[in-house]
Amino acid sequence: MTLLRLTVKKKSSEAGKGALNNKISTELFKLLEANGIPTHFVKMLDDNHMLHTKVDVILIEVIVRNIATGSLSRNLGIEDGTVLPFTLVEFDYKNDALGDPKLNDQHCLILELVEYQDELDKLRRMARQINDILKPYFAQKGLNLVDFKLEFGKDNNGNIILIDEISPDNCRFWDIESGEKMDKDRFRQGLGGLTVAYEQVLNRILGK
Ligand code: CDP
Repeated sequence: MTLLRLTVKKKSSEAGKGALNNKISTELFKLLEANGIPTHFVKMLDDNHMLHTKVDVILIEVIVRNIATGSLSRNLGIEDGTVLPFTLVEFDYKNDALGDPKLNDQHCLILELVEYQDELDKLRRMARQINDILKPYFAQKGLNLVDFKLEFGKDNNGNIILIDEISPDNCRFWDIESGEKMDKDRFRQGLGGLTVAYEQVLNRILGK
């Protein structure tokens, strides 16, 4: 067992975000576990710490997209807000020095990020299962799950499990009624009100 301190890659000056992310992640990991997705989550220890099982991290960021925005719209010219005809799953290389480039399956195997094609198929399958749980869950709470990033690792038995965190830092949530952004894009786009939006996401999850 190791301690995970939830931190943000791009620092925002707004206080309390780490604790909100920890609470949101905790609720979502519990939801996913209850629906048969194996995760590294053990328990929330305090506001900023989560206990999780130790894994070998797979250096692939799995991006799941329901609606086009961000780099997908920029790179491929798909109009921002277009509902995709099916859920898109992409792989990015988890490598800051290289700027997290896109990967295809052959890249993943050449770089030995996994051993077998089967493991890539499993990552895609798990990502779709997670989306099938989270998308209707958030829709019920008035939020469109636009896109999100997942990370995976291998536990002691070599099983692939979900790791990292699931929070408005790595998911895009748009209010279904107003279209308002309720995630890290508020910071990226200088919209302000980041912590308030994260609090609202947590309150909707908790049914408050
Ligand atoms: O932020 P940008 O538009 O460049 O990235 P994206 O590829 O459109 O991001 C897709 C989704 O993955 C968004 O929900 C991001 O928050 C998330 N993401 C992340 O959390 N960390 C990364 N290194 C890359 C993407």
